[in-house]
Amino acid sequence: MSCVLVVGGGGREHALAWALSRSPHVGRLLVAPGNPGTAALDRTENVATSTGDVAGLVALCRRESVDLAVIGPEDPLAAGIVDALASAGVAAFGPSATCARLEASKAYCKRFLIDNGIPTAAAEVFGDPGAALAHLASRPDVPVVKASGLAAGKGVIVPETEAEAAGAVKAMLTERRFGSAGEQILLEERLWGREVSVLAFCDGERFAALPPAQDHKRLRAGDEGPNTGGMGAFTPSPATDDRLIDQIGRQVIAPTLAALGRAGTPYRGLLYAGLMITDDGPKVIEFNCRFGDPETQAVIRLLRSDLFEVMAACATGSLGGVTVEWAPVASVAIVMASAGYPVAASDPVPISGVVEAEQQGCVVFHAGTGIIDGALHATGGRVLAVTATGPDVAAASARAYRGVAAIGFPGAQHRADIGRTSAGVRP
Ligand code: AMP
Ligand code: GLY
Repeated sequence: MSCVLVVGGGGREHALAWALSRSPHVGRLLVAPGNPGTAALDRTENVATSTGDVAGLVALCRRESVDLAVIGPEDPLAAGIVDALASAGVAAFGPSATCARLEASKAYCKRFLIDNGIPTAAAEVFGDPGAALAHLASRPDVPVVKASGLAAGKGVIVPETEAEAAGAVKAMLTERRFGSAGEQILLEERLWGREVSVLAFCDGERFAALPPAQDHKRLRAGDEGPNTGGMGAFTPSPATDDRLIDQIGRQVIAPTLAALGRAGTPYRGLLYAGLMITDDGPKVIEFNCRFGDPETQAVIRLLRSDLFEVMAACATGSLGGVTVEWAPVASVAIVMASAGYPVAASDPVPISGVVEAEQQGCVVFHAGTGIIDGALHATGGRVLAVTATGPDVAAASARAYRGVAAIGFPGAQHRADIGRTSAGVRP
């Protein structure tokens, strides 16, 4: 029996811990810092260590004889937690800091893609505002403006006019609106087409793609309102089919793993490729070096294989020895967020109805929740993801919305169109 640590405290980490806690190989599961949802799982304890405390997390693994550490968010990966764990003799599911630069530095990622002949949008990198503005004035098109570093999903501006693009350049390079994440920027050719994401378990050489999921970034139904971390997801996504996933596997994932392997820095963990399907074929928009949130909450419900076996195989370079199987049905995750999300914090308010939603066949994953005076409260941000499966997306969605209807907290926001129309799938 193994002891497993999951690092993180959001809905994605609750979903991963939920699947790991069902593995007969897992005798004990620690989650740092976790949330009230992870605390309630079988054989699971939350540990009050923050995801930024790499030394503290390594010490925790040593103290508790952790056999496998699963890293949820990007920041500890970029800070080198997997390298520090390797030095301490602890196996980890997640890429090294060198590999995590594919997400942490868009300038590095772009160079990597171009050097290895992997299709992507053309881009120029700038650190000097004068040079960036002069370049902007000299080009006929309006490029996408991207902060190179980690900016919590906010560092990409898709301007419609040159003036708007110049404003974004100044905000990043002159006003330093994104701090050190915006010390370098990319001015990138704008791509047109359908956006798809392909996520894959990777063991350094081999990979196994997850079922395609569609995220919903905007706050309100019909893709209106500000961008968020994601308000819901469903799988399978009509934007992707097996042929396209195969093509992206051959043209993007396989050459990425091969190049990192040749460099002596094999990629182990989850690789998330965000792509635009253009008239010239798929092109990479970005890489993430971790699972998506809330895509994971939807997709994990369909995993038939043992997540511990799959993750341990990735960590040890032996994915060839396991089959990764998924139930051939549909799954939907609907996010319930607090009143101020995504702009303002919200005061804690009590939540009712989670048990009733689960009685309807939903699985409810926690994120911004806390226990106050013994009662479950919404503490801000994205609060819960209500998930349900069904024979098709419409059935799964109908069941998930019955769960949402059972749950209440003052000011709760959710989108009414997750998996109900072609929401989020742009032509
Ligand atoms: P994210 O990086 O997830 O915050 O979001 C960036 C979003 O900006 C993507 O999901 C795309 O919709 C858009 N985007 C990024 N790069 C490009 C590009 N080169 N052309 C068109 N849209 C882009
Ligand atoms: N839902 C998008 C992401 O996790 O980056």
